[in-house]
Amino acid sequence: MVIKKICCIGAGYVGGPTCSVIALKCPDIEVTVVDKSSERIQQWNSNKLPIYEPGLYEVVLKCRDKNLFFSTNINKAITEADLIFISVNTPTKLNGNGKGRAADLKYVEGAARMIADIAQSNKIVVEKSTVPVKAAESILRILRANHKKGVKFQILSNPEFLSEGTAIDNLINADRVLIGGEESEGGQQAIKELSWVYEHWIPAEKIITTNTWSSELSKLAANAFLASRISNINSLSAVCEATGADISEVANAVGKDSRIGSKFLQASIGFGGSCFQKDILNLVYICECLNLPEVASYWQQVIDLNEYQKTRFTKKIVELLFNTVSDKKLAILGFAFKKDTGDTRESPAIYVAKTLLDEGAKLHIYDPKVEATQILDDLTHPSFTPDPEGVRKAIEIYDDPYQATAGTHAVVICTEWDEFIGLDYEEIYSNMMKPAFIFDGRKILNHDKLANIGFFVHTVGKQTVYKAVNGF
Ligand code: NAD
Ligand code: UDX
Repeated sequence: MVIKKICCIGAGYVGGPTCSVIALKCPDIEVTVVDKSSERIQQWNSNKLPIYEPGLYEVVLKCRDKNLFFSTNINKAITEADLIFISVNTPTKLNGNGKGRAADLKYVEGAARMIADIAQSNKIVVEKSTVPVKAAESILRILRANHKKGVKFQILSNPEFLSEGTAIDNLINADRVLIGGEESEGGQQAIKELSWVYEHWIPAEKIITTNTWSSELSKLAANAFLASRISNINSLSAVCEATGADISEVANAVGKDSRIGSKFLQASIGFGGSCFQKDILNLVYICECLNLPEVASYWQQVIDLNEYQKTRFTKKIVELLFNTVSDKKLAILGFAFKKDTGDTRESPAIYVAKTLLDEGAKLHIYDPKVEATQILDDLTHPSFTPDPEGVRKAIEIYDDPYQATAGTHAVVICTEWDEFIGLDYEEIYSNMMKPAFIFDGRKILNHDKLANIGFFVHTVGKQTVYKAVNGF
């Protein structure tokens, strides 16, 4: 079978960009991205896409309504497709067995049941969502138990490694594409067909093929490795703050060892995003279920250290502001979990804001890409506060960093947006309460320059700096 039509179930951060790039690179293939949310689909069909991702809009404009379609007609897209990506969300379970750790596969199962119900011809079903090892087996069982007469399914695992903020570049210049499938003849044929799609732009030697379970586990393993590097460097940032070593200098020296490498060693207020915590918790749960408690507790430490880092940073803010932030105005610059995205899922800024609000602070929040409604939703969510009205009264959301910082006691950098590096800190300083504090949670600013202006500067992984002015 030559793949002529692809359907992707799930028009989210993965389904949208991935299928846009497939459409761009494979003009001979018609790609339809479907979602049960008509609002999301309508946004994909508009000039304001539902997600902010550099370069995405340009790709969508080139292909939309030519060989790239966004639709709520799931039935039609599944019926016509030769290959179907399942790219739905796999959040952490909120209830029942494995609550708070296991991946909730209800959306994956829902998608599989829809495919089984609708498909009238053979399909290659591709697990693109991040799932526990052996999830493909469950999907296949559901598909094979519910299929229409004569319809055959092949299931492949093809995890996605893109990072938000750099998704288009990651997809176009992927380090590798991983495809896992059954060792049977049918499985190997399906692998070849999906490889053919990627070979439109990915060199064949970068397409790795494995058995299904290796592919599923490799995705969890890659995220666990990446997150553990951040916890490694963040753990050492605490040692730096206590000793006078500088974590940037340490990271540079350590990263120059070619066996270690320099990437992903940026100390921070802790990692956020929809993947790292969820996927490591999932790995921990799998290890526990496999009766591997030592392995489970090893990976749990990566999460625990991340919690510690977020708490440590926020405690330091309160401590340096004379042990009270009650009724003080603090500016939070950056709310997204990293720069170049409007995504706030598991953003450390949410944790910082919560702790400061619990301590009685008034927050002025500015982020260049996160919508005010999103910030409000995050901070008034029932899991966040029993008093949404109180929170609403304690926060103000700004669309200008100078207005956000005016009249505040402290500026707290929570996201490493480039824009924050170039701000006029003399002007900001002149409009702040004194002594004026900057807490650089991303280590992006010129701290000596800020201290010369008169700021009291605290950053992760370095001792607090200030000039002997303003009574210090
Ligand atoms: P998302 O929440 O942005 O998008 C998922 C979409 O699936 C939603 O729009 C939802 O409405 C839709 N959906 C759910 N069930 C459906 C159904 N039965 N029919 C139609 N639509 C349905 O999620 P995401 O961030 O794109 O992540 C998707 C998967 O990819 C997850 O497993 C995630 O772990 C994995 N992943 C995410 C990233 C990332 O950077 N976000 C990177 C790699 C892998
Ligand atoms: C991650 C993986 O990188 C990607 O391969 C996978 O497909 C999905 O999960 P993402 O969460 O989008 O991607 O962004 P990433 O760049 O990995 O950053 C995650 C978090 O770690 C962010 O909060 C970021 O600020 C933080 N981080 C990253 C650090 O604190 N220090 C670093 O050195 C790198």
